[in-house]
Amino acid sequence: MTGRTVQPARIVFPPEDREQVAIAVTDILTSGILTLGPYTERFEHEFATAHASPGAHAVATSSGTAALEILLRAIGVAGKDVIIPSNTFYATAAAAIFAGARPVFADVDPATFALNPTTLADALTPNAAAVVLVHIGGLITPHADELRRLCDSRGVVLIEDAAHAHGATFDGRHAGSFGAAAAFSFYPTKVVTSGEGGMILTGSKEIADEARIYRDQGKGSFGSNHHIRLGYAWRLSELHAATGLVHLGRMEQSITRRREVAGRYDAALADGGFLRPLPEPAGSRGNYYKYIAMLPPGIDRARLKQELAAEHQVRLAGEVYDLPLHRQPVLAQYAPGHDLPVAEEICARHVCLPIHSDMYDEEVQQVLAAIASVSATTRETKFATD
Ligand SMILES: Cc1ncc(COP(=O)(O)O)c(C=O)c1O
Repeated sequence: MTGRTVQPARIVFPPEDREQVAIAVTDILTSGILTLGPYTERFEHEFATAHASPGAHAVATSSGTAALEILLRAIGVAGKDVIIPSNTFYATAAAAIFAGARPVFADVDPATFALNPTTLADALTPNAAAVVLVHIGGLITPHADELRRLCDSRGVVLIEDAAHAHGATFDGRHAGSFGAAAAFSFYPTKVVTSGEGGMILTGSKEIADEARIYRDQGKGSFGSNHHIRLGYAWRLSELHAATGLVHLGRMEQSITRRREVAGRYDAALADGGFLRPLPEPAGSRGNYYKYIAMLPPGIDRARLKQELAAEHQVRLAGEVYDLPLHRQPVLAQYAPGHDLPVAEEICARHVCLPIHSDMYDEEVQQVLAAIASVSATTRETKFATD
């Protein structure tokens, strides 16, 4: 046991980055251009470039949730169904509901926590207009292209909820290039943050044009007061864009360190004992926004987390996610009698180990020692639920 607590996440802006943000903030406040200005344009351009999509259109938004809702509105899902994996964040479904659609919850693949062609085919309805593929934990499923083909064959639009997946790739292709469009989040814990914010990436000029209209109150153009869509105040401020730009500059470095930490966890847990890491499929290069591992059946996760924090000063990150959407009180009306066994099982049985962009080796060691210790006590059934 060491004296320091390992936190589940750490948001890192080193002094030189803070200095750069401060310079940009002064510049913005001096110019008086506080929204939809040059910093937003640069952030959009550099985000697209960092995702190897210099030709793609990037549209910055006030949040990842806004990016999702804008996309679903631009596609036109009102009165239709949107297929959503049940083990995702509330916002994925809420965006569909606010865009006027009915969310239909699908089961997922235990190997990737994502939709696969079978679970999607089972969930697709004749009234489906869109499918949302969520890259949970920053891992892109090897089935992404098959999912796109299945959607195309049914005349349904595939979009990516890439809230977790900045810089993640599959076969060298970045998140944001598998569907018709993708929504990223810059919430503080994300691999790239702007404080609050979101980004749409799309190869479609038509979707990008619509998205720009929706994000600014549905106005036909910036200076006009003619509202041609039911948009909202979904703009990103210049101050947020400047912060995001600086943090984006750290993306590759941050992913490299996260992958090193993940490699150490993988190696230490390779014995297939207490915790079983979710392996990265061949071709996939995750950003390790989350490091996911499965607990053995019958373990009381809450007690285990308490013990890790109290006895070993290791605080685990939040799960992705602990309760599937079809079991969420406010969403249960959309899932009468739904039984999605894989989503339920993985939500109940996984944990996320601490992982940060500047995690120290001693912290990794502290986590692994804590896991080894609770693994031993668990063998004496201390955490067993039955
Ligand atoms: C999977 C997923 N989708 C959407 C969102 C929403 O993003 P934001 O918090 O930026 O609105 C999140 C965010 O935290 C998320 O994890």
